[in-house]
Amino acid sequence: MDQRALRYEQLADELAGMIAARVLRPGERLPSVRRLASEKKLSVSTVLQALRQLEERGQVEARPQSGFFVRPTVPHQRAQLEAHTPQRAARPVAVDINGRLMRVLALNNRSDMVPLGAALPSAELLPLAQLQRLYGQVGRRSAPLLEGNSHTAMNQPDLVRQFARHSLGWGRPLEPEEIVITNSCTEAMALCLRAVTQPGDTVAVESPSYYLMLQLLEQLGLKALEIPTHPRHGISVDALDIATRERRIAACLLVSNFNNPLGSLMPDEEKKRLAKLMAGRAIPVIEDDIYGDLHFGPDRPWPLKSFDRAGNVMLCSSLSKTLSPSLRLGYVAAGRFHAQVLMQKTMTSGATNPVTQLVAARFLESTAYPRHLLRLRRAYERQVMQMSEAVLRHFPPGTRLSQPQGGVVLWVELAPGTDAEALFELALGAGIAFVPGDLFSAGGQYRNCLRLNCGHPWSERFEQAVKRLGALALTLAKAARS
Ligand SMILES: Cc1ncc(COP(=O)(O)O)c(C=O)c1O
Repeated sequence: MDQRALRYEQLADELAGMIAARVLRPGERLPSVRRLASEKKLSVSTVLQALRQLEERGQVEARPQSGFFVRPTVPHQRAQLEAHTPQRAARPVAVDINGRLMRVLALNNRSDMVPLGAALPSAELLPLAQLQRLYGQVGRRSAPLLEGNSHTAMNQPDLVRQFARHSLGWGRPLEPEEIVITNSCTEAMALCLRAVTQPGDTVAVESPSYYLMLQLLEQLGLKALEIPTHPRHGISVDALDIATRERRIAACLLVSNFNNPLGSLMPDEEKKRLAKLMAGRAIPVIEDDIYGDLHFGPDRPWPLKSFDRAGNVMLCSSLSKTLSPSLRLGYVAAGRFHAQVLMQKTMTSGATNPVTQLVAARFLESTAYPRHLLRLRRAYERQVMQMSEAVLRHFPPGTRLSQPQGGVVLWVELAPGTDAEALFELALGAGIAFVPGDLFSAGGQYRNCLRLNCGHPWSERFEQAVKRLGALALTLAKAARS
């Protein structure tokens, strides 16, 4: 072996040893290439070769203009959430979370709170300057948009084209004719629910499931049937199969790519099974794919809708997690329910703001968009891992964590008997907000769980907040034991 090869491998092994011994910690920046070269008396190209090798082994990552960083690691095996998946769903229940949820969300919105609650991206990660420029440009060049008839021209064709183009790599790309542009993903889901359900109907949801979905069911007088959901592989198709044989279910509402709060990802085979099962029983599926583009792995997972041949899946999404939640811009590709959904949209709010539609179209068609998505995905992955590491450092033994494969939130299970609602009240006093676990269940499950938002770049402020939460959780755990 030539000397140079030996030297770069030696350096790679030495750095790998420091990573294994946690001298260099996940997320930490490595010394600069120049510094390593001068300290180790190696050439810059030998050091670069060593770092590239570590990159190939998945131990470090290069960040443009910032250097090399130790790749975040998954939480320790012992701390992984266990699947407690009973095969049967519970009974359908009326949802009653609105009152408490509104209080929790209002407290989460307070600017003096450390924002570990609402699943929102930090402004630093969003392309706000570009969007501002585009608003100016579109306002100047497309002034007639302000004169439009908001109940007939519902979609801006340029934006529909972008959403359809974005889906080209999926197994079954979206058809422009089935798309309705909406004011957010929440509106898209509300329209779908109204299109296919009547008050009193039962809707199957994941367990745990995103609180806003439960809130929609409550608003529309629908019952929730919580279907067991695996922390990594998503909703149990077997349990859904049994539940839909046992009772009439009007619709199924789920997130197949990176469920909120678990970050679970349904394997393709399960997506295929679910799409076929529900089409066979003529039960419409409302899929929320808001996190689909925020995958940590190399490939964008296909949505459930790509496995549906019957037009039975309504795919809802928005730009809230990728461009800005303030745009309030989303869409639904409603398949065979397109006409009903369009009717609901027309009656509910007319066309979505056409200026904003065009601003989004201009950004999505630019080369800045894929670059922005890549940066954002890396940032979310890093932040989720930094949050996981901090929880493992500071929370009492027995705490378990989700292992999100995408998205922006972390689910934490405290030792049995530790009350996350009591933790929430204590944390408020310390200026820290999060969302307690029982708000992700219609039946009051997950009282010892909480969801943490990882949308902000890591800083000492977050480290200290997690440390304080951990100390408070320990106090509660001790009180529960005694
Ligand atoms: C799964 C999921 N769907 C929808 C939303 C809300 O999206 P929008 O702001 O587009 O209504 C969120 C936001 O947290 C979410 O996590």
